[in-house]
Amino acid sequence: MADLYQFRETPEEPLDCLYVLKCSGVDPFGGLEFQTKEKRSLRQKAKALGPRGEKGEIISGECPLPIARRITFVGMGDEKELSHARLRSGLRRVVHQATKNREYQIGLAISVRIHGLSEVESRLIALREAAIADYTFDHFRSKKNEFDKIDGVHLIPLSGESEEDLGERLERVRMLRSSIYLARDLANRPGNDLTPEALASAARDMAEGVGNIRVTILGPKELQKEKCGGILAVSRGSAEEPRMIVLEHRPKKPKKSIVLVGKGVTFDAGGISLKPASGMGWMKFDMAGAATVIGVMRTIAELDLPIKVVGLIPTAENLPSGTAIKPGDIITMASGKTVEVDNTDAEGRLLLGDALHYAARFNPDVIFDFATLTGACVVALGHECAGIMGNDPALAEELKKLGEDVGERVWPLPLYEEYFPYLKSDWADMKNAGSRWGGALTAGAFLQQFVPEKVSWVHFDIAGVGYMEKEHNGFPIGGTGFGVVLISRYIERILENL
Ligand code: BES
Ligand code: MN
Ligand code: ZN
Repeated sequence: MADLYQFRETPEEPLDCLYVLKCSGVDPFGGLEFQTKEKRSLRQKAKALGPRGEKGEIISGECPLPIARRITFVGMGDEKELSHARLRSGLRRVVHQATKNREYQIGLAISVRIHGLSEVESRLIALREAAIADYTFDHFRSKKNEFDKIDGVHLIPLSGESEEDLGERLERVRMLRSSIYLARDLANRPGNDLTPEALASAARDMAEGVGNIRVTILGPKELQKEKCGGILAVSRGSAEEPRMIVLEHRPKKPKKSIVLVGKGVTFDAGGISLKPASGMGWMKFDMAGAATVIGVMRTIAELDLPIKVVGLIPTAENLPSGTAIKPGDIITMASGKTVEVDNTDAEGRLLLGDALHYAARFNPDVIFDFATLTGACVVALGHECAGIMGNDPALAEELKKLGEDVGERVWPLPLYEEYFPYLKSDWADMKNAGSRWGGALTAGAFLQQFVPEKVSWVHFDIAGVGYMEKEHNGFPIGGTGFGVVLISRYIERILENL
């Protein structure tokens, strides 16, 4: 929604349409700041049009108030079960409907309450979801959709919500929106455009744009110096050089230190252990973890939080060629541990192993890594939550709860020590792949070998949630930016609890 939310008491021109989210059996105007007289005529109109508020329902008519030409009720289902995902879908439907009808100036009347959340939390989520519901990626289309896009959204305030409250809430939403859209845009760029080098420039541009971030980029020479055998091994099949992107937000007197690691495989063909042709194009999204880290770093820098946050992005392209690594090869990782490459398609863990080891120098209290790491995680959890693994069950529980609240769900998976022997090698310290069974967990067990001692660590396998292969529950096709909100919120919460 181009310049979203010009908040005005009354729009100068009538809006093209006023969209009203309606739950079944609930008056959708009750909590909104309309005058009694206005509410009366809105209710009369609702009665005449007869929306029931069922999921998927869309009913339009003439708007009874001068604020808009038309009014459209969008059914949201039972409020007692209203989930974040359903709200996201509802707002996405508003955007589709408005675009279809060529409504450029719309109003939004949202006074629904997400199940289990307070009014304020619900409001923030509704505003954020409204703000990101219009995402499209048409950078590579010569005919842009500009004319079909909503370019003004007029928000109906809640009763008691001052202009100042709303202004502050919107400021926050705008900031998050930019970070989420950046993450989505990066994820959506194809492999020929977003090479490891281009990903590094994009990270640099972001850092220069917001300030408060120091950027260091390691190329092949520096990676060699750091003995990053995993990153170098993965990149060997490609003409594109690997990089490690280091983004440091270092406030004066930092309260804590957090390292965020993101898998940045700009395209994953599988290498010599080549993937099947069908659907391989989706592997341009194999840098969604990197996109998340860049999005989170942007938020942290913009809020200028007094916490040291470091983003580490090992990035490479995984292709087969005469110079590529082969099954049976043995490589030495930055930590000195040796790995027998059993399957060149298990490349993400090779990159991440080096980055996790590199993280130690920042003395982190916590390390989070984000990676589209295993198909097995998608088999287990589908597209509704990320799988998380780690060495700190309390932290995992906290993230699960927080994820539920902010609408980026994560589900803890086990990392029993019994999983590591699945990676036993006859020739090296470990193999990079086990059998089919427990694929998400053996990947986690592999990563754990490289996590610095005594550091809390959570691994987010976002293979099922980092991008969507078609519109899904209000997410657009392509990159989702999953994790940006959850981790930004987690870091802010640390400050609140200090
Ligand atoms: N990038 C893939 C994982 C993936 C699969 C992400 C589907 C998103 C959707 C990863 O590099 C990979 O190929 N993993 C292998 C590991 C196996 C060879 C041990 C997998 O999941 O099959
Ligand atoms: Mn792979
Ligand atoms: Zn991969």
